[in-house]
Amino acid sequence: MLDLASILQAAEIIKKGGLVAFPTETVYGLGADAFNPLAVARIFEVKQRPYFDPLIVHVSDPADMKKLVIKIPLNAKKLIKRFWPGPLTVVLLKKEEVPDIVNAGLSTVAIRMPKHPMALSLIEHANCPIAAPSANLFGYLSPTTAEHVQDQLGDQIDFILDGGPCEVGVESTIISLSEREPRLLRPGGVPLEEIESVIGRVQVPVGEEGRPSAPGMLPRHYAPRTPILLDWEDKNFDSNKGEKIGLLAFGESKRSLNFHYVEILSKKGDFREAAANLFAAIRRLDSLHLDLILAETVPEVGLGRAIMDRLRRASTHPKASHPLETVSQ
Ligand code: TXA
Ligand code: MG
Repeated sequence: MLDLASILQAAEIIKKGGLVAFPTETVYGLGADAFNPLAVARIFEVKQRPYFDPLIVHVSDPADMKKLVIKIPLNAKKLIKRFWPGPLTVVLLKKEEVPDIVNAGLSTVAIRMPKHPMALSLIEHANCPIAAPSANLFGYLSPTTAEHVQDQLGDQIDFILDGGPCEVGVESTIISLSEREPRLLRPGGVPLEEIESVIGRVQVPVGEEGRPSAPGMLPRHYAPRTPILLDWEDKNFDSNKGEKIGLLAFGESKRSLNFHYVEILSKKGDFREAAANLFAAIRRLDSLHLDLILAETVPEVGLGRAIMDRLRRASTHPKASHPLETVSQ
């Protein structure tokens, strides 16, 4: 049920230049009036986010795009028709009126229409597009519950709308449509295959680390305090040495090691369920003061691409040898 009184209160705060954390179907966002540069500046301060990392602007109706962009190319129209409201962000050439702080001085702006009814109602009542990054400290895991936001940023923001756990659990897919060829900037809640079924081939540019790259997507991101290791299956770990090792498992399977704690993302091995649980599961493991978290990989198809992207960025560099690794035979 929508708590209209809270939404109206939150909308008033946005109108007055305050910051509101709100649920979307992907992760919780930390929002401000996109046309109020001072309010947007506070988002960067609170998150300790570098100013070179542009924000996504959230709208409650595709018609609101006319405030933000000069022109909507055909491919963008097709994607919007098919996937909005939903976890897809489109990057388009921006109107001059969009404050530079929102998009880090780029000539483009990233826009999405979220699916969560509370987010839509907040944007409508605030009567302005809302610029919002994920509501976490820069570089840390994205929040998928109101408690996650409260724990990390609670004392620094003006209001938190609680809409329960996020349904999708990983951030939106970002597609740039500002040049001739559509480009994938971040895999996310809408699988690349589905996007290609609507607009044809999408380029997947790879950065230095071999990953798609939006400006703010650093190789190490979504990082918990405990080291996470991927690609460990061929290495030996001796869990009897007293080290506390946790496992982030995709599905249920037979395991030879004695783990201190095991988080199973989806017993059925279902991508949707796994994505929805991902960040909360890593947070739980991170709170146990383990020495190391070993993460299982998932196949890189559909939502698996977004899950693996987040896991790679959350993990310790795969080539780095870890102090807990024992010498293989
Ligand atoms: O699901 C989501 O997208 C969530 C919810 C809250 O909507 N938001 C989110 O925001 O993940 P954030 O700030 O954590 O990530 C936004 C990403 C950054 O990697 C940023 O670099 C990229 O979007 N981005 C924003 N504007 C851009 C632009 N004009 N061109 C290229 N990348 C852009
Ligand atoms: Mg983020």
